[in-house]
Amino acid sequence: MSSGRTVVVGITGGIAAYKAVNIVRAFVLRGDSVHVVATPAALRFVGRPTLEAISRNPVHTDLYEGVAEVRHVAIGQSADLIVVAPATANTIAKLACGLADDLLGNTILASTAPLVIAPAMHTEMWNNAATRANVATLRERGVVVVGPGTGRLTGADSGAGRMEEPDTIVAAALAALAVADRGGAAGDLAGKRIVISAGGTREPLDPVRFLGNRSSGKQGVALAEAAVARGAEVVLVAANLEVPAPTNVDVRLAGSAADLERAMTEAAAEADVIIMAAAVADYRPAEVRADKIKKDDTGDTLVLTLVRNPDILAGLAAARKPGQVVIGFAAETEADPELLLQLGREKAARKGCDYLVLNMVGWTEGFASERNEVRVLNRHGDIVIEASGSKMSVAESILDLLS
Ligand SMILES: Cc1cc2nc3c(=O)[nH]c(=O)nc-3n(C[C@H](O)[C@H](O)[C@H](O)COP(=O)(O)O)c2cc1C
Repeated sequence: MSSGRTVVVGITGGIAAYKAVNIVRAFVLRGDSVHVVATPAALRFVGRPTLEAISRNPVHTDLYEGVAEVRHVAIGQSADLIVVAPATANTIAKLACGLADDLLGNTILASTAPLVIAPAMHTEMWNNAATRANVATLRERGVVVVGPGTGRLTGADSGAGRMEEPDTIVAAALAALAVADRGGAAGDLAGKRIVISAGGTREPLDPVRFLGNRSSGKQGVALAEAAVARGAEVVLVAANLEVPAPTNVDVRLAGSAADLERAMTEAAAEADVIIMAAAVADYRPAEVRADKIKKDDTGDTLVLTLVRNPDILAGLAAARKPGQVVIGFAAETEADPELLLQLGREKAARKGCDYLVLNMVGWTEGFASERNEVRVLNRHGDIVIEASGSKMSVAESILDLLS
């Protein structure tokens, strides 16, 4: 699910610089191209090799290196997003004055990308009138200031000034990027609360084994990312995802169908939209053994008794609040397009959801693939959308139904 943006992570000289490694990693895992610009002071706190290995790019510090490629402006011009974390009192003061005596200052001045800073310093430095005035100036100019939080500081003391957690910073940065992508306008799903399930359930047999399915969770995660970028507040009920969950959604983990039903039912109470993209096991073992099933005890064949799981989608559709939209997914192996459509229509009628997203799965299609091809049926069985392409573009088409 590569979103492929160019992100500059500026790191300055505070103890919290070690946490910036996780910020760099989060963007890399999203598929972004990440360039670290560290101040010389930052590299006293966190090692260049660590940052280069995690960012998969050289770390830039020196204003007078790479002069032939005009690096002091090139990095800033190429950035879609700049995140400075931690931001020291010193760097904040320099940014407020528009100083450019190091590579980071030049990069930021040369960029029109959204700028997000995460201050980190001792409480006294944070409360100092100079710092407060500098932060206020930056805010007025549209800089997004994340935190600082209150808590344990470097020494035994605690108070305001602790850098926000990396996940929170990344989430705020992605929200700022989405706003910038829309030219500052609110997204078409702003104010909507969307609950999405993704992945595949695992039904335990014994402490080490389960019955599962091949759903990677990519389509559900793409839906979550796309919905957040369009301004929605998203709860992602994640069942054994093979891809990282987005950092800017409320992730609730679910292992089995029973877990997923509980999590979805709870989250549905507050939802405007429910999207059941997870592949849920229709059956679970009647008995979950307390100890590992042993070959010696079972012989050459093992007969399992399975019992039906509840139909979560039908249950959510039946219990929906007025105005709540329920979207289900149906993955089928029927190769004949007409018969596939027929199966989808029967399912749409049976499940009672507003829309059913019908897609073909098989040994090579659907699961784990970067692409998808879907037809979306309404409750009467009419095709309202046909979409194919990356799972992100399919996600956008499905969300278009809502706006
Ligand atoms: C051990 C140690 C920890 C520091 N931690 C912080 C900090 O958390 N926040 C801060 O604003 N300055 C901190 N400083 C001071 C900065 O390193 C110093 O102001 C430096 O000039 C910042 O440079 P830079 O903004 O170019 O990275 C610390 C200094 C030391 C020696």
